Amino acid sequence: MPPAARVLEVAGGKGDLSLALTLAGYDVTLVDPQHKGISGRHRKRLKKAGRAPFGVVREFFDASSSARIVAAARPDLVVALHPDECTEEVVDAALAASLPFAVVPCCVFSRLFAGRRLPSTGERVRTHGQLCEFLAAKAVGTERAVLGFAGKPDVVFHRGGAVMCTAIDD
Ligand SMILES: C[S@@+](CC[C@H](N)C(=O)[O-])C[C@H]1O[C@@H](n2cnc3c(N)ncnc32)[C@H](O)[C@@H]1O
Repeated sequence: MPPAARVLEVAGGKGDLSLALTLAGYDVTLVDPQHKGISGRHRKRLKKAGRAPFGVVREFFDASSSARIVAAARPDLVVALHPDECTEEVVDAALAASLPFAVVPCCVFSRLFAGRRLPSTGERVRTHGQLCEFLAAKAVGTERAVLGFAGKPDVVFHRGGAVMCTAIDD
């Protein structure tokens, strides 16, 4: 990503990733209804590095708000680390805006999202692996990789570019 690119971090929680991205030179906006404000420890790190605090939007990122939040933040990239219930919305919103994204899914919430089916087999999405496959099947060019940390390190991502059309079933 170019220096000073804008990053929208959805479901950023306390802001550890937003802090790291801001310290790395990116212009970051964090979205999370439960964010309690930039902590004193984070503020000290930012001040020491001469960086302004990252932006915060305390809202749910969902079908009724995502397009507005994306339009206001004008990001070059959308990221989400273990974004719980809004995992699919992050991918959908990034695709709708033709933006590159990187999403690291965690919980599946198979009862809440009982309508999810794998396009390949029609199976219900019940496992973490199936969730990653379901998300990756949403658009041509979506990739998967495994990051270097413990827990749930699978990332589903798209590099953006001209061709980001939604995959169509036969
Ligand atoms: C497991 S925590 C992960 C927090 C952070 N990304 C991390 O890795 O430390 C899940 C976060 O998702 C947020 N979240 C859940 N649903 C959300 C939604 N619809 N919009 C924005 N954030 C949401 C919660 O508030 C919570 O902070």
